[in-house]
Amino acid sequence: MGISGGRIEAIGNLEGAAAVQVIEARGLAVAPGFIDMHTHSDWPLLANPEAHSKVRQGVTTEIIGHCGASAAPLTPADWDEIRTRFARYQMDQQWSTLQEYMEILEARGIAVNVGVLVGHGNVRRCVMGYELRRPTAEELARMKELVREAMEAGAFGLSSGLIYPPSAYADTAELIELSRVVAEYGGIYFTHMRNESEGLLESVRETLEIGRGAGVGVQISHHKAVGKNAWGLVQQSLELIEQARSEGIDVTCDQYPYVATSTTLTSVIPKWAHEGGREKLLQRLQDPETRRKLCAEMTAQRQRVSGWEDIVVSRVASEQNQSCVGRSIAEIAAERGVDPCDAVFDLLVEEKLDVGQVHFCLSEDDVKTVMAHPTVMIGSDGSALAAEGPLASGKPHPRSYGTFARVLGKYVREEKTLRLEEAVRKMTSLPASKLGLFDRGILRPGMMADITIFDPATVADRATFTEPHQYAAGIHHVFVNGVQVVAEGEHTGARPGRILRRG
Ligand code: ZN
Ligand code: CU
Repeated sequence: MGISGGRIEAIGNLEGAAAVQVIEARGLAVAPGFIDMHTHSDWPLLANPEAHSKVRQGVTTEIIGHCGASAAPLTPADWDEIRTRFARYQMDQQWSTLQEYMEILEARGIAVNVGVLVGHGNVRRCVMGYELRRPTAEELARMKELVREAMEAGAFGLSSGLIYPPSAYADTAELIELSRVVAEYGGIYFTHMRNESEGLLESVRETLEIGRGAGVGVQISHHKAVGKNAWGLVQQSLELIEQARSEGIDVTCDQYPYVATSTTLTSVIPKWAHEGGREKLLQRLQDPETRRKLCAEMTAQRQRVSGWEDIVVSRVASEQNQSCVGRSIAEIAAERGVDPCDAVFDLLVEEKLDVGQVHFCLSEDDVKTVMAHPTVMIGSDGSALAAEGPLASGKPHPRSYGTFARVLGKYVREEKTLRLEEAVRKMTSLPASKLGLFDRGILRPGMMADITIFDPATVADRATFTEPHQYAAGIHHVFVNGVQVVAEGEHTGARPGRILRRG
């Protein structure tokens, strides 16, 4: 294969052709660069434009802005919070629209290509704050305008996070209305569904209703069944998806290859307590009467889904609570001599809500069932991290470092859940065609030269839950837009990535 000017020039026997550089790839697999369909690198890319943890697993494109939370639109009030919460991302610029954010990222230079989504949480917060109610006609119109503005800027679609307030405060009708704007542009409705445990099938039905009602392409994010009572439901959810596809709804999914989830610890607090925003939530978490009420709901939830011993703290903001990182809520509560609910409330108050969690609640069988399904792509649900510097802190979910290598190592080579070719398709041409990236995701003359060269015999994830900051093994060379970003397994420092715009 020969590449020049950022594109693939020729494929075949090129003996005798002149080249400035020749890569010896005998015995290695040469694949299109991997597309990470689901990520949260919106902020981390500012502090880590080299995208170390991603390119070292062969990722050449990231889709950011998922789960209802994107880098824009933002209000001045949002910025007060962001400045403190994301201090470690060293932001020296401020923006309010997605267009501005894209320009900032572009000017900074990034190692991977990036496609952005607009978060429904952002859109709703800009117009209605954290109000738990339906929008008025005027508010809905204003939200549609914001979605339109993002689609005009080149967003690939709208993401919802229906467990996270204020996105969670939307009903199905609101999501259909907003998705209609997305459909006009040929974009996609991406969703972190309302319920991924016992209510999984109902949530899939809601998602399909949105696809049908808005005439929009749909992507179910991180498809899984949370908690023992829900294990196995993915069989039926995948059937629902197949049925919908046969009706003509363009619905697909993505998945990360682990049995634990990860999100903010605030997500264990019932949604009603978030009404009014962060300050209101912090007040409620300090009110004895409200704590009792919350605890009753949370305890019932833990009994249905999984216990406090399965929820491990992955990050805290303060120095003084660093000892909590890597330990379960049950352990922290025992050490503090308090009820687990109180341990959660106190920790959230002490950390001003900035606590991360890893939750061990999925079944290995389900992971394999979902992975083997032809409509499922790979998406890390992680961020571009780096094993050194400000992003190397805490014990984040290893998916940010290991996802793609883990699929190729554990699930292709060791467990034989998938054939190598099928795994590569899930990482490349499948997401590219869903996104309408017609010049990426396939190796063919004329396509952009996003290329990952790896060793199928040694490719493996090395990041673990206890030692997550470790790069993947077996990824030899990575090219982004024809420029080498990884050479012999090391980052070259190059930042040839582009902001991709829909259409
Ligand atoms: Zn999510
Ligand atoms: Cu996500």
